[in-house]
Amino acid sequence: MTDWTPDTYLTFADHRLRPALDLLARIPMDAPRRIVDLGCGTGALTRHLAARWPNAEITGLDTSAEMLSRAQAEDGGKTITWVQGDIATWTPDDQGSPDLITSNAALHWLDGHDVLFPRLLDALAPGGVLAVQMPRNHDRPSHALIRAVAKEGPWEPLLAALVAAPPPVDPPEVTVRRLLAAGAATVDAWETDYQQILAGGPDAVAAFTDSTALRPWLARLPDATMRDAFRAAYRGRLATAYESLPNGRVLFPFRRQFLVATRPHAESP
Ligand SMILES: C[S@@+](CC[C@H](N)C(=O)[O-])C[C@H]1O[C@@H](n2cnc3c(N)ncnc32)[C@H](O)[C@@H]1O
Repeated sequence: MTDWTPDTYLTFADHRLRPALDLLARIPMDAPRRIVDLGCGTGALTRHLAARWPNAEITGLDTSAEMLSRAQAEDGGKTITWVQGDIATWTPDDQGSPDLITSNAALHWLDGHDVLFPRLLDALAPGGVLAVQMPRNHDRPSHALIRAVAKEGPWEPLLAALVAAPPPVDPPEVTVRRLLAAGAATVDAWETDYQQILAGGPDAVAAFTDSTALRPWLARLPDATMRDAFRAAYRGRLATAYESLPNGRVLFPFRRQFLVATRPHAESP
């Protein structure tokens, strides 16, 4: 897959940061010693973790060299360690288990949540916290129309596997039960439908998804001509799906799921 493009991703930086801060506000910890931010991207949440807990040892982990390079350039001398790595194979290193694992808008890129969430809970130190935010807009026009367009053009055979893939994020009650079954002492879970008002005219929603949800689809197309044709078909379908507001803005509701789970302080006998 092509690498992430920080500039495009950060076009809507405020809308993307808000849920990270809402997640941070619900983390019930005074002084975690070790923190790992999985899928840290350009480090938006990671820098706020460092500001709240300046004495913690913080690691940001991401697969994307481009995103990590931007994170490093913007960390303002904060003592954050940036590591290139895959969440799918990440394990706590020799220095010990983290007290806090965070992940903002990243775990929906991984499948197998039935295994992933218990594994992350288990990676925590006793009394530790797992704090996760994931988009769950899969059934909304922004995402459903990608699948609709994928079924309609010359790209159909190239995209059939993605069309058939199950939704990446389960309903919250499924993940809550999963975390409790894995031994979580508490789970604080909620969903928020952010009423995002985007600047940028009728193509604003397509611009929002271009650097995120659209990436795996475009990456499977062989050349720029087909990618542009796919984008044009998608923009055409989006045109009537979202409400235009005055001053060329667009109302783009976006649902996100939040989970803050704690590992028990001591294992039951
Ligand atoms: C939408 S961005 C979110 C970045 C950051 N957490 C934020 O809040 O701005 C998703 C990030 O997850 C990373 N990512 C996706 N799959 C990953 C994986 N398997 N392991 C590590 N990072 C991953 C991507 O490279 C990207 O930087």
